[in-house]
Amino acid sequence: MPKKRKVDFKEIGLDVGLILAKQFYKTEYLHYGYWTDELEVDAGNVYQAQENYANLILEHIPDGVKSILDVGCGAGKFAEKLLDAGYEVDCVSPSPNLTRHVKALIGDRSRIFECGYEDLNTDRRYDMILFSESFQYIPVKSSLPQSIRFLNPKGFILICDFFRKDVEGTSPIGGGHDLKEFYDYVSTLELDLIEDMDITKETAPSIDIVDDFLTQTAVPIYNLIFYALENNFPRLTAFIKWKFKKRFEKIDYKYLQRKTNADSFSRFKSYHLLVYKMR
Ligand SMILES: C[S@@+](CC[C@H](N)C(=O)[O-])C[C@H]1O[C@@H](n2cnc3c(N)ncnc32)[C@H](O)[C@@H]1O
Repeated sequence: MPKKRKVDFKEIGLDVGLILAKQFYKTEYLHYGYWTDELEVDAGNVYQAQENYANLILEHIPDGVKSILDVGCGAGKFAEKLLDAGYEVDCVSPSPNLTRHVKALIGDRSRIFECGYEDLNTDRRYDMILFSESFQYIPVKSSLPQSIRFLNPKGFILICDFFRKDVEGTSPIGGGHDLKEFYDYVSTLELDLIEDMDITKETAPSIDIVDDFLTQTAVPIYNLIFYALENNFPRLTAFIKWKFKKRFEKIDYKYLQRKTNADSFSRFKSYHLLVYKMR
């Protein structure tokens, strides 16, 4: 019998994210929003904030770029926007569920590489490699050399993602490469920094939207499930809680104590739009 592929929890997290994003916020983007001063931080404005984020990236695509490799293209929404803007776009999508959405959305307008970026092998070359909030999922020592390999001469890498800051304490929000280690490593490569824009202030409000969702929807459902379990199956529930004590403590710290918010995001993370050019 063929061995079953292990399911990655981060991948499932993104699949669940897409279901919730579509249902609650009427969006298929999987990135944060870019909240300008005029845009009220409200669930009804999530799509607009994400559209602002996509537009911000579009505005920072260097002149002369024609072909783009969209690494970690999510559900394909941004790839579709790039195609509509006239770029030739290929996509990298390691998640079978997300890839289904990408295919439904953009059909054969793009070639979709169904693998992790680390494993990508192709003769194709691009004017720009794009990481729209996908950079944090791939080890830097793999993503940057791979990008240099797939770029045309004098090509560009555009990264829009958050990084970990070196501050004391435990962040309730996971993810992100260490910012200083990233800068140190990238400085050893044949890449020139063209642009480094700190957009932490404009992206952080997305976490307040997550906090609202947790407080108003996820946590009450979670509490009701445990209320039923503790009443109907007290011994089994006690056993599960003991067995997965560390997991429950993490859930409690991250989600139930309301520590996941824009302030904690800004304290522990730094969100950047970075453009590099091959020397
Ligand atoms: C937060 S989503 C961003 C999606 C999209 N770029 C956007 O802006 O809406 C992260 C994406 O990274 C992809 N990803 C995760 N690990 C990856 C890897 N090793 N190689 C390539 N993509 C990866 C996920 O499948 C997902 O598409």
